[in-house]
Amino acid sequence: MDAWDAVVSRRNVREFKRDPIPPDDLDRILEAARRTPSSRNLQPWDFVVVTDRGQLERLAGVWRGAWHVAGAAAAITLIAPKPDDESRNWLYYDLGQASMSIMLAATGLGVGTAHAAVVDQDLASDVLGFPEDRFCAAVISVGYPADRPLRPIAEPKRRPFDEVVHRERW
Ligand SMILES: Cc1cc2nc3c(=O)[nH]c(=O)nc-3n(C[C@H](O)[C@H](O)[C@H](O)COP(=O)(O)O)c2cc1C
Repeated sequence: MDAWDAVVSRRNVREFKRDPIPPDDLDRILEAARRTPSSRNLQPWDFVVVTDRGQLERLAGVWRGAWHVAGAAAAITLIAPKPDDESRNWLYYDLGQASMSIMLAATGLGVGTAHAAVVDQDLASDVLGFPEDRFCAAVISVGYPADRPLRPIAEPKRRPFDEVVHRERW
């Protein structure tokens, strides 16, 4: 799949087949994360990848919107330093870009992804074992879609092009 097809085919996939992701494909998705640009090239991230079913089921408890993690083939968790007021905005910008790198690389391989926010940091820390000065910013479920393959979406649920695009001035 080329870059454009990956952009227009990505969607949140929340129901997954149980087939595992081949290790080389999972590593490619993680390599895309590693290559993400970041403010001052600080690369303020570590990625803990989880494939153990029991751990995925526990991780699904970090937020009610994280239920899909339990049925995923894998979860990629984004771990970052606890931010202060100065670093917060750029940190989240960087992590957002890393999320999209993961999702587009996965889509290119026909692999679905879904975001999950993380509310219960104590549970995330217990499952993932990251150091005390870090937090888990997000979990991304990864797996082959159970509903239908990833194909270009003709009419995504988005605000109209002419409403969001302003030429030369607002
Ligand atoms: C920062 C962020 C947090 C999100 N958190 C969740 C979540 O906790 N659970 C979930 O199922 N989807 C979550 N989503 C997915 C959004 O609901 C989804 O991207 C949006 O509805 C657009 O749908 P699409 O990704 O299929 O195009 C999150 C997305 C973002 C960008």
